Amino acid sequence: MGFVLGIPVSADPAERRTPIVPDVANKLRSLGATLLIQRGATDRAHLTEFDLGEVTWAATTEEVIAGSDVVWTIGPPAPEALAALRRGTILIGTLAPFADAERVRALAAGGVDSFAMELLPRISRAQSMDILSSQGAASGYQCALIAAARCPKFFPMLTYAAGTVRPARVLVIGAGVAGLQAIATAKRLGAIVEGYDVRPETREQIESLGAKFVDTGVAAVGEGGYARELTEAEKGAQEAKLGKAIAQCDVLITTAAVPGKRAPRIVSEMMVNAMRPGAVVVDMAAEQGGNVYGTVAGSEVRVGPAHIVGPVNLPSRMPVHTSEMFAKNLYNFTAPMVTDGSLAIDLTDEVIAGTALTLDGAVASPLVARVLGLGQPSPEQPPGDQPQAGRGDA
Ligand code: NAI
Repeated sequence: MGFVLGIPVSADPAERRTPIVPDVANKLRSLGATLLIQRGATDRAHLTEFDLGEVTWAATTEEVIAGSDVVWTIGPPAPEALAALRRGTILIGTLAPFADAERVRALAAGGVDSFAMELLPRISRAQSMDILSSQGAASGYQCALIAAARCPKFFPMLTYAAGTVRPARVLVIGAGVAGLQAIATAKRLGAIVEGYDVRPETREQIESLGAKFVDTGVAAVGEGGYARELTEAEKGAQEAKLGKAIAQCDVLITTAAVPGKRAPRIVSEMMVNAMRPGAVVVDMAAEQGGNVYGTVAGSEVRVGPAHIVGPVNLPSRMPVHTSEMFAKNLYNFTAPMVTDGSLAIDLTDEVIAGTALTLDGAVASPLVARVLGLGQPSPEQPPGDQPQAGRGDA
């Protein structure tokens, strides 16, 4: 037995990552996979056809998709490509599950068994499959570098012949995987760093990186260890305390997210206007609506005294390492589905079941069904807010 694993060119022309690297290609062949890859799918991650060993190269996305038992993808396939998926095909990758109800309906109606890696349960056993973490770390690192490059000050303290210049002050809001990496990177560059999050356990994580925790007295832990949305009273308390820290920093990096919802608006117009002249803001949540007033996704804008950067698809900026991380995550998720070269989906495995977006012709994720209004929400769980472009569309 064996199976065909296909990799099409990403539907996003700006995407530079690929979900396959040589080491993972070898491991897949050992599992019994034949690789079917579209020409051009690996070029922008600096991998040539010679690097990947024995592969069948195809000319079109439809050829790959129609000829595969399993398809790996970075970003959801385009609608025409989705239509080419055979019933029973297993589609695994970042699928932006909250972004488009039509796409989820089409996957279910087409009988595609799809797994959106953004839905992966955040449990210890699943860490090696966790694309949000691996790509989030790259995003946080990039945010700190973007900020350092635009900051009109040095990050480190610097002594020169005529004296000493003081280090820049960096504030990071949202200390998940990305925020902690941004803190660590800004620290390594020598800045004075403060961090803030609504999950109380982040205090210790922020302090362990040598940064100071900004205490607003607001704690908001929701389902699955994620943050929940704040109440109006909590938002008020947060704004009062955070406002002071924001007014004193040279660089503000924001990474706050709540799964399936628009990114929380944490920094108001008034807070932006109270920032130091020349302050730099990097809003990593730009694609999910932004944490900061004035952010424009994919653009850099001047708002009052601040220069606000709204970067998109940060992991794509360093595609060699992020492709390697992504490919390993996908392999670790897919390998348990293969026994003696045959594919079987074990829905008793909470990691597999929790990641399923559509199965056997139906929407399998209660969270996605609820947020997109695709199913009957259970009475004790109110429907989510506005559907948002999937968080961590890594
Ligand atoms: P995320 O991308 O969902 O959110 C980023 C950060 O924003 C979070 O730390 C969140 O608490 C914070 N945030 C949300 N609303 C906020 C607000 N109003 N003000 C300030 N901060 C706010 O975070 P990420 O990094 O994807 O994951 C967070 C959770 O997942 C944590 O519980 C973390 O420990 C857990 N995790 C578990 C893993 C595993 O065991 N496999 C792997 C990675 C993370």
